[in-house]
Amino acid sequence: MRVTTSAPGKLMLLGEHAVVYGHPCLVTAIDRRVWVTVKRATDGLVHLSAPALGVGDWSVPMARVCTADSPRGVRFLRAVVCCMARCHGLADGLRIETRSSLSDELGLGSSAAVTIAAVTALSEFMALELPSDILFALGLKAVQSIQGVGSGFDLAASLYGGTLQFRPLREATRNLRRCRPDITPLATDHLPLIVGYSGTKADTASLVRHVARRRERQPALTGEIFNSMARLVEEGRGALEAQDWERLGQAMSLNQSLLDALGVSTPKLAQLVSVAEEAGAYGAKLSGAGGGDCMVALASDERRDEVRRAIEGAGGRVIPLQTAATGVRREDIQWTCILKSADPSAPAVR
Ligand code: MEV
Repeated sequence: MRVTTSAPGKLMLLGEHAVVYGHPCLVTAIDRRVWVTVKRATDGLVHLSAPALGVGDWSVPMARVCTADSPRGVRFLRAVVCCMARCHGLADGLRIETRSSLSDELGLGSSAAVTIAAVTALSEFMALELPSDILFALGLKAVQSIQGVGSGFDLAASLYGGTLQFRPLREATRNLRRCRPDITPLATDHLPLIVGYSGTKADTASLVRHVARRRERQPALTGEIFNSMARLVEEGRGALEAQDWERLGQAMSLNQSLLDALGVSTPKLAQLVSVAEEAGAYGAKLSGAGGGDCMVALASDERRDEVRRAIEGAGGRVIPLQTAATGVRREDIQWTCILKSADPSAPAVR
């Protein structure tokens, strides 16, 4: 038997960093995905491979999967196998392979996508029929075992897809059944976004720690910034549901100023945001942890080309993608005939 699943990456629209402290955020799933296939291995070992990340085949006995030091490219896969083995028990002899149309360089949620695709594939492979909130909780445990931090908003986007308002649990809990974040799907199938990569890879965990230190030093001020971000999320949600792009754009630009005040923007991100606004975008901001990765601009059809050119002229790389993509899904494809996949972005397999 073999099971293949796929899950999308994400773009943060509003509310990053504040979401780590229990505030809501807005996130949309994107049409770049990660595919995970699980099948039996006859030699009794756990084999993990992620060719796009330079890992051809890394193997370990199941009994050592939680303690072994794995290559970086398969660390999230290893963490998922470890969590599933601890919570549900896994038989020896597994082969797990990944393919991706989502570069891990861009900060578009490839770790969350591989985690959710792998948790879902293993749940199907073992016929566990786990409900979504348990898949989410297992994914969160796996990610936090690697990064130590993370609200789980990106896991929610990979799991449910579409565009969501997400509010995390305030307290960590050992009871998976109580690990239920507050997730509201928002009715929008298209956001007129332009995404620009700043050219630098960000380290989310160190940016989250930077904000945590600032919060320790200036709790009242930082709390006010988070409260203002939460109000912008409310404002942005109303604007998004009314498709009032001008109002959503204003909320994004204000959110950028607050992220700047937290010290997570960079001169390059600030430049890309400002040229996009000067070229007539409704609004623009960094998307994610800051410190590099991508920015997003919201622009009308008439201004799109100008905004795109402005971002490229300032040294940004425009990443073409669609928003509100489908969440995790079981793929009805065989590895040997993957070209028949309904999804044209599915990478070929030899
Ligand atoms: C990173 O993409 C977004 C942060 O809010 C961290 C998180 O929510 O896990 C900075």
